Amino acid sequence: MAHVRSLFFEGPLAEVENKALKSAELGRPSDIIWNITNRCNLRCDHCYMAADGHIKPDQLSDEETIDLVRRMGEAGVPVVFLSGGEPMMRPNFWDILAEVNAQGVKPTISTNCTMIDEAAAARLKEYGVRWIATSMYGPAEFHDAMVGVPGTHARVVRAIKALRAEGIGVVLKTALSQDTWPYIFDIIAMAKELDCGLVYICDLITAGRSEGEDDSRVSVEQWRELADFIVRDMLDPDSTTEYDIGAIPSVIPYIAEQFIARGVDVTKGLERLKVMSACPVGKGHMNINSEGGIMPCQFAQDWVVGNIREMSFAEATKALYQIDLQESKGQCAPENCAYSRICRGCRAKAWQRTGDYMAEDVTCILHPERARTIPVTAKAGLSPSAPCAAPGGCG
Ligand SMILES: C[S@@+](CC[C@H](N)C(=O)[O-])C[C@H]1O[C@@H](n2cnc3c(N)ncnc32)[C@H](O)[C@@H]1O
Ligand code: SF4
Ligand code: SF4
Repeated sequence: MAHVRSLFFEGPLAEVENKALKSAELGRPSDIIWNITNRCNLRCDHCYMAADGHIKPDQLSDEETIDLVRRMGEAGVPVVFLSGGEPMMRPNFWDILAEVNAQGVKPTISTNCTMIDEAAAARLKEYGVRWIATSMYGPAEFHDAMVGVPGTHARVVRAIKALRAEGIGVVLKTALSQDTWPYIFDIIAMAKELDCGLVYICDLITAGRSEGEDDSRVSVEQWRELADFIVRDMLDPDSTTEYDIGAIPSVIPYIAEQFIARGVDVTKGLERLKVMSACPVGKGHMNINSEGGIMPCQFAQDWVVGNIREMSFAEATKALYQIDLQESKGQCAPENCAYSRICRGCRAKAWQRTGDYMAEDVTCILHPERARTIPVTAKAGLSPSAPCAAPGGCG
């Protein structure tokens, strides 16, 4: 994930990002996406966690969740995304949030918004929440069909209005696929209309209920069309919309090249990306699943480097940094791509495709002609992506 505007200009999230950057430089987590539960009250068609009514067998107990938040405070973690499943379904959600607040960690909640009414919005504000990330897939009928529960679209819109009335920032997220493509520009327009400051667009992850759905991914041409729109919007002096791109890091160097072609100086953004990189894996970004598993990326639930029950945050951060010491391979290698260190390619997709997380990213939109010539092989001897765990930048 990469916040596009604040990379290249002073965007609304620059302050938070600067803190995260500092944490990464100090060797502690820059941010944590934590799936506090795998349970969900919706049944989204595409859910890479295949979330449903079930709790994972070894889920962190209530005591363990509170203790973990204390440890986050001690470790100086600046930002935590409480996600799921549906995080608000966890019975001790509000206790966790109270402790996050008490520890001075900035919370963002990644939620389907079905449990947020005016009273809940006011309570979230009281509990120190400054940002909520919620999902939108298209017009009411389509959205409700996609999430499997009628009336959800109307509840999301009501929740967004209630949150904005409380002054809570809203991120409108979507998963981009051939199914949602017809609505993507309407979703962006809706974000602007409802005063959502940030639009998060995530490339389809073919795991969980999207396992094997490679044909549902949008094409390079479609991603480029969307990226061109984002560039035009960011250059519009009347627009303040921030964009965050998930699971397709090559969109960032593509956008940088579009800026350069238009005479915009992006040196600062590119320097920043040499430290943070468009794919956040190994850069201090940490993901914790509902059972305490430490994952480099929420999209690859079966890629776990340890358990937070057994590791300190310093140890877990060090384990994740080991990935950053390695170079991406194939077309993403430094000798083959000038953006190797800036972009890195999507490490989760490399893991899912080959079992080697440093393998090349064949979904590159910058060098598609090279990517398309590379045969896609299934990873040998590894189980399919776990039908569980987290959402992410998606918060
Ligand atoms: C797993 S959900 C958890 C938070 C909350 N339940 C929600 O839906 O907003 C987090 C985000 O992941 C996105 N997501 C789920 N499956 C996906 C997939 N296969 N590819 C890309 N994004 C996906 C959802 O659209 C959602 O915005
Ligand atoms: S995407 Fe979110 S709301 Fe939908 S089933 Fe998965 S966890 Fe639940
Ligand atoms: S080749 Fe790899 S590192 Fe280079 S832009 Fe494409 S995805 Fe990124």
